Amino acid sequence: MSTFPDEEAIAQAAASLRAGKLVAFPTETVYGLGADATNADAVLSIYETKGRPRFNPLIAHVADLAMAETLAVFSPLARALAERFWPGPLSIVVPLRPGHGLADVATAGLDTVALRMPDHKIALALLRAVGRPLSAPSANPSGKLSPTTAEQVRRGLGGRVPVLDGGACKAGVESTIVAVDGESIIQLRAGALAREEIEAAFGRKVIRAAKGAKISAPGMLLSHYAPNAAMRLDTVPQPGEAFLAFGPAGDFDGEVRNLSPAGELHEAARNLFSMLHELDATGAKVIAVAPVPHEGLGEAINDRLQRAAAPRG
Ligand code: TXA
Ligand code: MG
Repeated sequence: MSTFPDEEAIAQAAASLRAGKLVAFPTETVYGLGADATNADAVLSIYETKGRPRFNPLIAHVADLAMAETLAVFSPLARALAERFWPGPLSIVVPLRPGHGLADVATAGLDTVALRMPDHKIALALLRAVGRPLSAPSANPSGKLSPTTAEQVRRGLGGRVPVLDGGACKAGVESTIVAVDGESIIQLRAGALAREEIEAAFGRKVIRAAKGAKISAPGMLLSHYAPNAAMRLDTVPQPGEAFLAFGPAGDFDGEVRNLSPAGELHEAARNLFSMLHELDATGAKVIAVAPVPHEGLGEAINDRLQRAAAPRG
């Protein structure tokens, strides 16, 4: 077990962030690589540290809805989404408010920003101590697997950034991203909040963003979340491959992990990146991955699997 960072560790991390340094911190989804979102140099060092393409805007994390409303203009529907699902794994794309104070590089020059209030004690304590919004992409080198433990962050970033250790993330996949267009809710990225949950709460269909549509998430690259090994979607692994199973699986005489032997999608989401990290560390050249039902959190899991298996540019 990791020890919960105490008040002093949080205060120190907050001071570093206010001074323009990077700090990695846990959220309920994945670990974030945080910087003061109002400081252009600090945000630029996120792009440098991750090797991230500059056109890919960052999610700004806030301590509460009040902080969010100083940055962006919330329509009644956008506000209702925040009130219903914050703190939680939902990022909401909203128009910037004049005088918002965010660095241009944080939003990659767009006139909107993706905002989220994470549901994590350490993240919220840090945000309150900093008193400013924090830009934070997942704390991994660009294009690689997202980290769900502090150890994965240290390994991925080569120990270049201090990490607040909060143990394993409980959701395990990134937040769901939505935009609001009039009375419509548009999903830009499937994530830890299932589309069906939003639909049930708001009594309307959530529209999935079409490729190249007016509103989209510019960072949705085809090849992403890639382990070092090649990946193949298949229920049957070949000899010599590592295997990531889901549900009751037959015997396989090789490196195997099971996302959820019971076929439970929350458990599978939580295990996804960690098990891919583990199978990758075995040195296997190919990881065969069993498909997962395309409902609930299965949508986010399949999205990550398809990108991880996509041809690498
Ligand atoms: O769970 C998460 O969301 C994690 C944790 C750390 O909070 N963060 C995360 O950030 O996944 P990142 O940078 O890996 O993904 C941000 C996504 C990208 O696909 C980006 O294109 C999209 O958000 N995005 C950011 N601002 C946007 C905007 N104004 N309009 C549309 N998409 C936006
Ligand atoms: Mg990421």
